[in-house]
Amino acid sequence: MGASQAEKATQRPIRGNGEHGEKTDARVAIVGAGPGDPGLLTIRALDLIRAADTVVYDRLVSQEILDLIPKGTTRLFAGKKSRKHFVKQEEINALLVDLARSGQRVVRLKGGDPFIFGRGSEEAQQLAEDGIAFEIVPGVTAATGCAARAGIPLTHRGLSRSVTFVTGHLKNDGELDLNWTALADPRGTAIIYMGLANSGEISRQLMAHGLPGETPAAVIEKGTTPDQRTILTSVRDMPDCIAREGVGSPALLVVGSVAALAETLNWASALVPCAAVTPAADDRKADGAATRPKPAA
Ligand SMILES: C[S@@+](CC[C@H](N)C(=O)[O-])C[C@H]1O[C@@H](n2cnc3c(N)ncnc32)[C@H](O)[C@@H]1O
Repeated sequence: MGASQAEKATQRPIRGNGEHGEKTDARVAIVGAGPGDPGLLTIRALDLIRAADTVVYDRLVSQEILDLIPKGTTRLFAGKKSRKHFVKQEEINALLVDLARSGQRVVRLKGGDPFIFGRGSEEAQQLAEDGIAFEIVPGVTAATGCAARAGIPLTHRGLSRSVTFVTGHLKNDGELDLNWTALADPRGTAIIYMGLANSGEISRQLMAHGLPGETPAAVIEKGTTPDQRTILTSVRDMPDCIAREGVGSPALLVVGSVAALAETLNWASALVPCAAVTPAADDRKADGAATRPKPAA
């Protein structure tokens, strides 16, 4: 990098238009794009996207959001697919460093929230190590975005008092190493990212650890996009329903009583009833009437 480029790099921090958010000296902004709907971008994210010289984006960033990148801004695809990594994480890290050092104002745009199963922190670690100022902009993570769009509260008084985010992706094709006892708590909600391929094992393990097979579950496909589908099923039937409905990626698994609330709170997307579930059983009701199983729709 020439001296003038280095000078440029220190003189041109990425600040968006300065109207929204902290003014920092960051030259790389690691920005959450949310799960798909551009309406769920933060104002800060949009400011930064508009001010960037280069946007390095992932596979899960929706076309509608990519359309917000101004013409003339360089776009670099750094997407990855399960088992088929297009670009190695180390290469992405190095790319961000190189771009920043060459004086570019860089937005690293990632699906959902960059710090939730997003490896944004690994990129930030590299930037920190190389002395490059950075900023992190949170995004709506798939769990909250998809659930809101499906009408599923992740916690609900009397139904669920905790929510746990886990990945259902196997590392090096090994075992699913999860705390099944905690996930099988009937008073909690389990959100499984990247769980589609291993839904059979997830269902088996949850039941083996005591979660009744009739416990409601939802599979939310392409959440917050115009193509969102919410498959309402049970823990036992979840794998069959996924296969029968031909659910594709990206999809999120929501396990717990709260999933059944989609029957009444679903307001935006197609709800596909697929199996009999136990209706939401409010533990504040003493008569147990709410726990009777409901026939399949
Ligand atoms: C590598 S993780 C990235 C998560 C992202 N950082 C976030 O906070 O949402 C990818 C997984 O997130 C989930 N996901 C992301 N976007 C989604 C969407 N629009 N609908 C359903 N699931 C989604 C899927 O489980 C997908 O396999």
